[in-house]
Amino acid sequence: MSTRLVKKIAIVFGAGSAGTGWGNGKAVAVAFAREGARVICVDRLLAAAEETAQIIAEEGNEAEALRADVTDYDAVATAVAAGETRFGRIDILHNNVGLPEAGGPEDLDEESWRRALEINVGGVWRTCKAVLPGMRARRQGAVINISSVASRRWTGVPSFAYAAAKAAVNQATVSVAMQYARDGIRANAILPGLLDTTVADECRAAGTPDAGRDRRVPLGRLGEAWDIAHAAVFLASDEARFITGVCLPVDGGQSCSMAALA
Ligand SMILES: NC(=O)c1ccc[n+]([C@@H]2O[C@H](COP(=O)([O-])OP(=O)(O)OC[C@H]3O[C@@H](n4cnc5c(N)ncnc54)[C@H](O)[C@@H]3O)[C@@H](O)[C@H]2O)c1
Repeated sequence: MSTRLVKKIAIVFGAGSAGTGWGNGKAVAVAFAREGARVICVDRLLAAAEETAQIIAEEGNEAEALRADVTDYDAVATAVAAGETRFGRIDILHNNVGLPEAGGPEDLDEESWRRALEINVGGVWRTCKAVLPGMRARRQGAVINISSVASRRWTGVPSFAYAAAKAAVNQATVSVAMQYARDGIRANAILPGLLDTTVADECRAAGTPDAGRDRRVPLGRLGEAWDIAHAAVFLASDEARFITGVCLPVDGGQSCSMAALA
């Protein structure tokens, strides 16, 4: 077993997967465990959290599955307290939950706008509020927030609320990084690009033009959930001890390119 996160306790919000394959949250939770972390898997759907925890247990590692919706602060705080009670502390907070609310400003209504903000950035606020006091008391911790290249770039698909909410996640990450730097807490964001996860499966099944979206990536392929997981392991580990306040694209170079790639 690798040992880059040995003795660490991680909590992953959105640790399940919407599809049957590997989503980002599921891969991150399993990757943390493979590096020696004990992992608290939290999801809105308990069965999804349990599925990830089961994979971790079958690989001989330790995990706990809990239910919490990140739009509900009391549920988040209860899950954090339960995790701290079982494992003694939380060293790594990983925020994976996100909702790709589609549509431009004219398409959105009050409910869809609020939902995008509440889930994508409100969730980050609630988990930070619940986890940071313990990290501050122990003067150590790593926070990783999953954003998106859509926070910085026009993707070609109108996603006004999602882009705005993920941009807020980026600066919320920087804000935590700066406020808590002297408390020994680091905070970084990962900005995934086009990934071969459930979203891509749905595009292929529907036969939409987006099924050819790997051609838009300079490296010539879609990313995998494991590409996000490997970046998260590094940022969570002590190897990244001098890295904080970074918004790291993991996108095959897509956010560098102005070209329409063939
Ligand atoms: N897949 C991509 O192409 C892509 C690209 C850019 C960014 N992202 C980001 O990656 C993250 C999601 O990746 P994934 O592959 O794990 O997605 P996923 O949909 O497979 O898994 C997300 C998990 O979060 C859970 N969840 C949803 N709403 C929740 C809530 N309110 N409270 C608690 N749990 C909730 C779901 O039940 C699910 O198990 C999001 O932040 C998304 O914006 C994905």
